[in-house]
Amino acid sequence: MEPIEKEVGLTTTKAPFIENAHNQGQKFIHQPYELYSTENQRAWRKLYALLRPKWEKYANEKFMEGIRSLCLNPDRIPRLEEINQFLEPLTGFQAKAVSGYVPTYLFFDSLKHREFPTTITIRDSHNLNYLPEPDIFHDIAGHVPMHTDRTFAEVLVKFGSLARIAADRHKNARDFKEIMSNIQALSRFFWFTIEFGLMRQNNQLCVYGSGILSSADEIEHSIESPEVQRVPFQLEWVINQSFDIDHFQPLLFIIDSFEHLYEEVDRLEKWLLSGKLDHVASGGPSVSEENLKAFLR
Ligand SMILES: [Fe+2]
Repeated sequence: MEPIEKEVGLTTTKAPFIENAHNQGQKFIHQPYELYSTENQRAWRKLYALLRPKWEKYANEKFMEGIRSLCLNPDRIPRLEEINQFLEPLTGFQAKAVSGYVPTYLFFDSLKHREFPTTITIRDSHNLNYLPEPDIFHDIAGHVPMHTDRTFAEVLVKFGSLARIAADRHKNARDFKEIMSNIQALSRFFWFTIEFGLMRQNNQLCVYGSGILSSADEIEHSIESPEVQRVPFQLEWVINQSFDIDHFQPLLFIIDSFEHLYEEVDRLEKWLLSGKLDHVASGGPSVSEENLKAFLR
């Protein structure tokens, strides 16, 4: 069996190892490093070579520092334990391998515990553009360098704690409308900051959102294209703004600093507690039954 698996590798949506783990209900898994194929390693190398000059031009300083302190290897897919050796002493965060999609509640709650659910598959080396599914390049090269920064790490932990608060507020709810509204508001906040956020740095715009930092095409588009609306961060707008995940984002929000972002998470918490997130505008992202159940356990 092994030679076939080796050939198939750990390509996103095509990995039997992941399918098996998923079918057996295993969310947290190990990273079977020996299964990465030559093509998988090539995909990492090509992506890194494509993105590196763009990061130098468009990424925020903390991200670049993170790349250096994690000692990310341009030539091969990293082992999670190597990453964690550098990461954990800095902020206590750890990358933990998962078998794919993690329900929103579990994902956010993991952040609270300084664990980052990390996809271990990698996109097809023949199609390196942004893909809706996360992969190890998105998670390790896009997200994890940000986790080396203390303020940013505190933002994630604080944000992660909101999942529990939302779940507790609605444990005995008679209908699902309000908890669904909370999940949408939190997901939108995450999307427009951690995934697709821009920030001002030394009077220039730069990228800190991991969805952009792991997309060779969108990174330049997000800063340079006249088709993108770039507006100062407004919490009221963000929590009511729906989004699509399958094309370049037409609307991006700008923060001033990670201290600013922390203040916004703090405000989000107050709004959650006071019921201000119970009736946000309808629209995407849709909330699956699995997501809802995870909050109402
Ligand atoms: Fe992500």
